[in-house]
Amino acid sequence: MTDTTAVSQELMGIAETVAREAGDLVREALGGSVTVAATKSSGVDLVTEVDQAAEALIRRRLAELRPEDGVLGEEEGWQAGSSGLVWVVDPIDGTTNFVYGLPAYSVSIAVARAEGEDPFAWELLAGAVHAPATGQTWTAARGGGAYADGEPITVGTPPQLATALVGTGFAYTADRRAGQAQVLAAVLPEVRDIRRLGSAAMDLCLVAAGAMDVFFERYLNPWDMAAGALVVTEAGGVVERLGEGVEGLTVAGPAALVEALLAVVRPVLR
Ligand code: IPD
Ligand code: CA
Ligand code: CA
Repeated sequence: MTDTTAVSQELMGIAETVAREAGDLVREALGGSVTVAATKSSGVDLVTEVDQAAEALIRRRLAELRPEDGVLGEEEGWQAGSSGLVWVVDPIDGTTNFVYGLPAYSVSIAVARAEGEDPFAWELLAGAVHAPATGQTWTAARGGGAYADGEPITVGTPPQLATALVGTGFAYTADRRAGQAQVLAAVLPEVRDIRRLGSAAMDLCLVAAGAMDVFFERYLNPWDMAAGALVVTEAGGVVERLGEGVEGLTVAGPAALVEALLAVVRPVLR
């Protein structure tokens, strides 16, 4: 085992521990009434007091366990560190599901070597995605493989695109959704079917475990995909991006299927 792998595995343990602690907070909060604290990019982009409390817990625990590291979190933004490592945090990925009491929501925590200004280009070292409603947890460490509830996972042998089950998701603003609808219209006739579960982090982990064949979504933020992307690559899949930053479209899964899906999407992407 190389030094990097050993460090990544230790970081994976921290990501999982903290994701489970935040997951306990989130699950327990669901017993009470969940108040929407605010909306963000549009009137349907919800943030609850539980999102905020979960991120506060994650930041407090990371400050105890990894005081030199930075944090980039959805609710509180950027906090610099001195180690060169940054934790990329989505306290609840799938807030709409959480508010409606649907089980597809997760805590997503990754840690990356933060070289340069573009979080999408950072080298991911470890990650954990924990779904409090079902108890499922996916983890990965760079060079150390990907796991679902501690069992190794791989993307497996892909089907043809025509028989592939394809996950996707949508942004919160009307203009972005109008463009996504055009891409979806091109993809839907070419595939077995589409799933829109509502947590990109979980979509990526399900693809990594072969429970869905391939995933694509435009306008993801770094915290939506950091942990899940490492789970996919450590499970033997690939994560490709068309375009830069938040504007980019992400496609993840087994290499052959990602290529096949890109061939459908590329001509219609504007
Ligand atoms: C959202 C979920 C959803 C995806 C959206 C994300 P949030 O995250 O991952 O599946 O389609 O693009 O914004 O807002 O629930 O943290
Ligand atoms: Ca998210
Ligand atoms: Ca979120």
